Amino acid sequence: MNNNLQETSSIQETKEEKYQLLTKQIKALIEGETEKKSPETTVAVMANVCAAIHETMGFFWTGFYRVVEGELLLGPFQGPVACMHIGYGRGVCGTAWKQRQTIVVPNVEQFPGHIACSSLSRSEIVVPVFSEDGEVTAVLDIDSKELGTFDDIDRRYLEEICKMIA
Ligand code: SME
Repeated sequence: MNNNLQETSSIQETKEEKYQLLTKQIKALIEGETEKKSPETTVAVMANVCAAIHETMGFFWTGFYRVVEGELLLGPFQGPVACMHIGYGRGVCGTAWKQRQTIVVPNVEQFPGHIACSSLSRSEIVVPVFSEDGEVTAVLDIDSKELGTFDDIDRRYLEEICKMIA
């Protein structure tokens, strides 16, 4: 048995392990903040949450769009500049808002109405954030430069993270 190989495999984290650590980090980060209901606090929490996800997982673009005056308005994000306004039912983000559920897009070219903020983005996941009374207040949007990046593991952990923000 090659010892080097053994060592390498034992230090490589699986996606699930990365998410487990990330979820713990985010819990600690936002502890004591979620009782404060001001929009400023929400934005600050979202800023740290998207930075933590982006740094840990190494995605291409990670950010929030918040529901403001009947549309999705760009919120805290990490990555290249992005579109500022998205309408209800528009693109992947507006569709996740309208359908009130997570949408996984393995290939953005095959999603009718996909909004291309960057031509480098090839797959995407959008997770709604709900208020305590069940309203969609924001969506978490994550883009990848590779096809088929997101699966049920991403969905499960990102939904858990979005519940913590609610
Ligand atoms: N692709 C998204 C728009 C937001 S950017 O990806 C940052 C959509 O179709 O809703």
